[in-house]
Amino acid sequence: MLTDDAIRERKTEKILATSDLPTRDLRETVTEILTLAGQAPFHRACEDQHRVGTLTGIEPWRFHVLDAAACRRLHPQLPKENAGKIPAMLAAADALILATWLPNAGAATPMGDEAGFALTQANVEHIAATSAAIQNLLLAATARGISNYWSSGGVLRLPSTFQLLGIPTNQILLGAIFLFPREFGDAELATSKLRDRRTPVECWTRWV
Ligand SMILES: Cc1cc2nc3c(=O)[nH]c(=O)nc-3n(C[C@H](O)[C@H](O)[C@H](O)COP(=O)(O)O)c2cc1C
Repeated sequence: MLTDDAIRERKTEKILATSDLPTRDLRETVTEILTLAGQAPFHRACEDQHRVGTLTGIEPWRFHVLDAAACRRLHPQLPKENAGKIPAMLAAADALILATWLPNAGAATPMGDEAGFALTQANVEHIAATSAAIQNLLLAATARGISNYWSSGGVLRLPSTFQLLGIPTNQILLGAIFLFPREFGDAELATSKLRDRRTPVECWTRWV
């Protein structure tokens, strides 16, 4: 698919299932998509504190990936309160990618809903780079005919969910990226409310 077409075709598509959909193994495709995500620009390496275990990359992002089977195992373990649509999406997803960015030292409470961090130029650029990687991911998924959705994460942001999934507490969730199957039986398809409110280029661009 041409880049222009992938950009135009990308859209929020949420699949909501009341009972678990069958699982399939997309590991190879997801790895391909993640490899493309990792081609995003980044200005600064992450701090050494973030290079732990096998995740030694200098990039300012980390991707924590759950395959379909892991999504099905996760949703019964999430708190019922304020879970919203997350359990129904985990019942349908082919994969969930939790994309975190890596704040420099000085962040007071990096984990979960109440995340706080110093709004330095370096941290802003880490977030920007991670956003670029996520957009690459969405476009690569779209180009492969995979429905996708960038969520803030809701209950997936909770410290208890981070602990459950082994996500280090010094990382901050930027996006919970759902990949969904095109065939989803009688599950519900939901789209975005903001999409149709987009304005033309001249509404947010000026030539100086
Ligand atoms: C950082 C970020 C967080 C988002 N979080 C949510 C979310 O929690 N819930 C939601 O419905 N959409 C969320 N979205 C998706 C947008 O609402 C959606 O992209 C937008 O409405 C435009 O629609 P489109 O993706 O179909 O073009 C998020 C998008 C971004 C960039």
